[in-house]
Amino acid sequence: MFADAFGFQGSLSGDPGEPDVQGPLAAGGRRRAGLAPSKFRRQTPYLYATVRPPRVARGQPWHSQPPPCGVCLPGLMTQREAPLQAARHTPPVGSLGAMLIKRRSTRSFAPRPLSIGHVALMVWAAQGRTTGERRTSPSAHALYPLTLTAVAGSVDGLAPGAYRYDAERDVLTLIADGDHRDRVAGTTLADHLWLRQAPVLLLLSGDLEAATQHFADQRPLGQRGARYVWLEAGHASQNIYLQAAESGLGAVLVAGFDDDQLLELTPAVVPSGQHPLALLGVGHPAE
Ligand SMILES: Cc1cc2nc3c(=O)[nH]c(=O)nc-3n(C[C@H](O)[C@H](O)[C@H](O)COP(=O)(O)O)c2cc1C
Repeated sequence: MFADAFGFQGSLSGDPGEPDVQGPLAAGGRRRAGLAPSKFRRQTPYLYATVRPPRVARGQPWHSQPPPCGVCLPGLMTQREAPLQAARHTPPVGSLGAMLIKRRSTRSFAPRPLSIGHVALMVWAAQGRTTGERRTSPSAHALYPLTLTAVAGSVDGLAPGAYRYDAERDVLTLIADGDHRDRVAGTTLADHLWLRQAPVLLLLSGDLEAATQHFADQRPLGQRGARYVWLEAGHASQNIYLQAAESGLGAVLVAGFDDDQLLELTPAVVPSGQHPLALLGVGHPAE
């Protein structure tokens, strides 16, 4: 049990089986009583909490009341504004913070090939294995519903072609030889000519239907699984951006493409039954 500076009271627990635990914390501390623990909740040891909002004293001006608060930990909310810039350490050179500052969308690429080592880093950053079955990107239920296709055009050590990334074995498998960058980049809504200059295009796709089935017991029914897949495409995309920043490369996420055009390309770059989610160009930035 705890009480914070505004009188919020609550309890925290890492064990969803505890009797006073009512479910994932809702905004404003609402309890979600009567919900049977979902499969997702049973399988994930998240911190579950209940919070009772304080009594609002009559006759007090609104600004003397605490702001709505989802999770209020002891001592956390002691002031209305906390200036952060002065409190934050400057990210050390090479740190994640430094990469977050460095990350930018690059839309102008030098006519210089990437190395296969660069591509190996990018695909690993997006979906590669780390420890055991786990990967660089988080995935709901560790389902890993994404497929990564590398459309290589100018990569030293890798013949032009479309390759599927097999994360389990950490290999690229050729699915169509030849340079397909023009065809793929040509499906972008604004026909980004500069995207064709990127030595490699990375296409993320996913089986929305399979994910929807997998998470069929989670509300909103029929939508939850697909949401997770889209979120995961975002995680993988950000990993590519950050890896590019660390490697001194440029990357850009292009999600403005014509889904149908991309799906109709022959030979196919999107696996059958999957939906295109995100397309990224990677290369050396132009000086
Ligand atoms: C979901 C999403 C879709 C995007 N689609 C496109 C796109 O179709 N074409 C493009 O040139 N940039 C696209 N971008 C890149 C954004 O334009 C870019 O992130 C934004 O201008 C901010 O610049 P920064 O990435 O350098 O911080 C997209 C970014 C996101 C997150």
